[in-house]
Amino acid sequence: DLPARVRIHEVGARDGLQNEKSAVPTEIKADFIRRLADAGLTTIEATSFVHPKWVPQLADAEQLFPLVRDLEGVALPVLVPNERGLDRALALGARRIAVFASATESFAKANLNRTVDEALAMFEPVVARAKEQKIHVRGYLSMCFGDPWEGPVPIAQVVRVCRALLDMGCDELSLGDTIGVATPGHVQALLAALNEAGVPTDTLGVHFHDTYGQALANTLAALQHGVTTVDASAGGLGGCPYAKSATGNLATEDLVWMLHGLGIETGVDLGRLTATSVWMAAHLSRPSPSRTVRALSHK
Ligand code: HMG
Ligand code: MG
Repeated sequence: DLPARVRIHEVGARDGLQNEKSAVPTEIKADFIRRLADAGLTTIEATSFVHPKWVPQLADAEQLFPLVRDLEGVALPVLVPNERGLDRALALGARRIAVFASATESFAKANLNRTVDEALAMFEPVVARAKEQKIHVRGYLSMCFGDPWEGPVPIAQVVRVCRALLDMGCDELSLGDTIGVATPGHVQALLAALNEAGVPTDTLGVHFHDTYGQALANTLAALQHGVTTVDASAGGLGGCPYAKSATGNLATEDLVWMLHGLGIETGVDLGRLTATSVWMAAHLSRPSPSRTVRALSHK
């Protein structure tokens, strides 16, 4: 059985932009977020409070967040790797944060300069302090399927870190296929293993990158398993600067096309969303890789 409604966790302004070489002006980012909200998206990841040298594109988090934080009816999660990041986010009134762990040692080192367990130890006080203040915490887990340095990732390794993130108090998890190598059978096997380890499906979201064109098929497999939170990036923007071979996220337009075709509600106006991605593509001087954006804008 498929769900009646899916909550889209829009990551275009964060995952989508973090890898862009040329600095996107803060006011354009704010407009992007406002337009996404106007298209009906209700969870819009806004930016990251990470070290500015690690992700220069998001170094304007202090300037950007106040421009969008009062958007009505929209949750604006921000990435926070450590207590320094949490302090910065709290100072601006953020009400939702996301920590980001790795299932593999190679990516933990590349992305966080830590081992997997050192990174978990870094998140522990962040999550504890956030929970004290009733702040919603998402726990991302990267490299859930394959890793560019280590190859296929054993399911038990993924389950262990998921459990650790939930046990420290994360409200939801997002299972990341950072480099887009997952296939639907692998998705269902991981979801089943997580359930067996006591992780309820309603705490799980999925986060697919579309490198091998599998993101929609993988999403459908997750929906069939009962997942109702799906991450996507407007226009298919994206990629991770610390994972070679990571290309764009699943495009929100492609996702919405499939969901609406299945009769699943999203609250998203596909026309407005497509117009937003066409507008953003013009700013980035590059056409959107989303097939749906192309189909709807080249009539
Ligand atoms: P580090 O070099 O080990 O940092 O980096 P440190 O803890 O040793 O601190 C060094 C200096 O950085 C200190 O300053 C800190 O204050 C400062 P000093 O005392 O030397 O003057 N510092 C900070 N400054 C501002 N904001 C902060 C902050 N933290 C420390 N938050 C660190 C460790 C975690 C900071 C670094 O590795 C980092 O920022 N990494 C972020 C990488 C990132 O954002 N990657 C992309 C997001 S993950 C992703 O895209 C995957 C996802 O989409 C899911 C998927 O697809 O799989 C989520
Ligand atoms: Mg990602």
